[in-house]
Amino acid sequence: MEAMPWWKKGVIYQVAVRSFADSDGDGNGDLRGIIDQLDYLNDGTEASLGVDALWLTPIFASPMRDFGYDVSDYLSVNPLFGDMETFEELLSQCHRRGMKVILDMVLNHTSDRHPWFLESRSSRDNPRRDWYIWRDGRAPGKPPNRWRAVVEGSAWEWDEATGQYYYHAFLPFQPDLNWRNPEVREALFGAVKSWLERGVDGFRLDLINFLYEDELLRDNPRKPGLRPYDWQRHLYDRSRPESVELVRELRRLLDGYPGRMMMGEVFTDTREDAVALLGDGTDALHLSFYLHFAQRRWRAEAFRESVGWLEENIPERAWPCYYLNNHDLPRSFTRLGGRRDAYARAKVAAAMLLTLRGTPIIYYGEEIGMPQARIPRGRMDDPIGKKFWPIPVGRDGCRTPMQWDGGRYAGFSRSEPWLPLGPSHPERNVEREDADPYSLLNWYRRLIRLRRERPALRAGSYRAIEGAPGGVFAYLREAGGEAVAVLLNFSPRQVSLRRLRVPRGDGKWRVLISTHRMGCDEVCLETIFLRPYQAAILERA
Ligand code: GLC
Repeated sequence: MEAMPWWKKGVIYQVAVRSFADSDGDGNGDLRGIIDQLDYLNDGTEASLGVDALWLTPIFASPMRDFGYDVSDYLSVNPLFGDMETFEELLSQCHRRGMKVILDMVLNHTSDRHPWFLESRSSRDNPRRDWYIWRDGRAPGKPPNRWRAVVEGSAWEWDEATGQYYYHAFLPFQPDLNWRNPEVREALFGAVKSWLERGVDGFRLDLINFLYEDELLRDNPRKPGLRPYDWQRHLYDRSRPESVELVRELRRLLDGYPGRMMMGEVFTDTREDAVALLGDGTDALHLSFYLHFAQRRWRAEAFRESVGWLEENIPERAWPCYYLNNHDLPRSFTRLGGRRDAYARAKVAAAMLLTLRGTPIIYYGEEIGMPQARIPRGRMDDPIGKKFWPIPVGRDGCRTPMQWDGGRYAGFSRSEPWLPLGPSHPERNVEREDADPYSLLNWYRRLIRLRRERPALRAGSYRAIEGAPGGVFAYLREAGGEAVAVLLNFSPRQVSLRRLRVPRGDGKWRVLISTHRMGCDEVCLETIFLRPYQAAILERA
């Protein structure tokens, strides 16, 4: 069990680089800022969070029209964030602490300002024309087919100068690369390789199920849905078998370097897609994002079902991965929080995230309970937010500066931050939570430590416990002779566990940690009353 690789046993922390810590006072977070905060993340003692790996949102050169997900050079560091030397310092400082660094790789598309695209669009016979997906319309004024962009409208953009359309699965300034072209493959594999040579430990692969589209550009069948993008069954424009093949090839590249990993953003409403990208569990993605879990509402039964589905459908040799937040989702503190109970619920959610079988990903600020912020129209940055205003679908509200203290700029910067601070920062910040033993931050720290100390939590099997009352999610984690029970009360009521059917559970259990005092240290599970929003973790005595 101890031979488990780091990406299975560790906790990953997602840093939105622009929003984490600003070292030079220009209002933008940067790499030096992250270096300055490494003690907070992991200084090897109980005083720090204790995370094992950092996933950095894209750090490459970029016009920053989509938070860096519009790359203009895969080999250089965005000057807004620092330079290669600073990156290498960050990498080696992390390694010295036993932490890993994961880079965000955007392989599906580039920025429209990438030199490759500038060449490609310059003329129909440019040697790079075929690096992107160019087609004639199906009739004058009509795009090649009816595929839609994830964001809105046709996925085809008309290019006046050369009289053809180019394909973009996301925004028009993010043209899709043509992965059927061997030169494209060579260039991007080359980029991946050069970062591997530099010593990065892994990659988060953006929209990894979008790399290939149907060669015949067949239209998708129609279906009902909430917004136009969902009116199609995306059979032909995403999750194509070729994408899985390509991921297999990437895996072979990574396998040439010991200890590296890749986790993929599988953007889909079909759970099977997320599992497909894991191949047989050893030959494709190491970890696949399971969006379904992150999209559940605040119901114990909903999370239980989501976990149960993955446990049943994931290939045996693959490993699950869970998250509640990222830079695209409204923050879970608000989304799951309800009107008055957000702080208590956040503790229950954290206990779940950090005790399931699988690798947990924490998004910066989640550990202090940063709520979703409302960004005034004039200060919005996210193109989606601006486009759909006043419909609040923009992603800026989950990207506001990290709240380090209650000062004017929350300890994030010496000057006005690039995005406004969330109004919660005077009360909700690292400095205050650090000083309060009952804070969410200290709860995260304790959970992470417990996970590290208990093989059953890190590596053990998962089994839902039957007989829990409505609103309670209860499960067992077992490894070797060790059994840990996780009891999560999602409801605002006190509940009795007397009908719990604990496998071989008739004995006594010892409380490891709990959000509420438990009366005595050793109990029978069936005699427990859980307080409203109580999370308790016990081991078999
Ligand atoms: C992914 C990213 C998102 C980005 C999009 C386009 O979904 O997570 O932030 O806008 O891809 O690259």
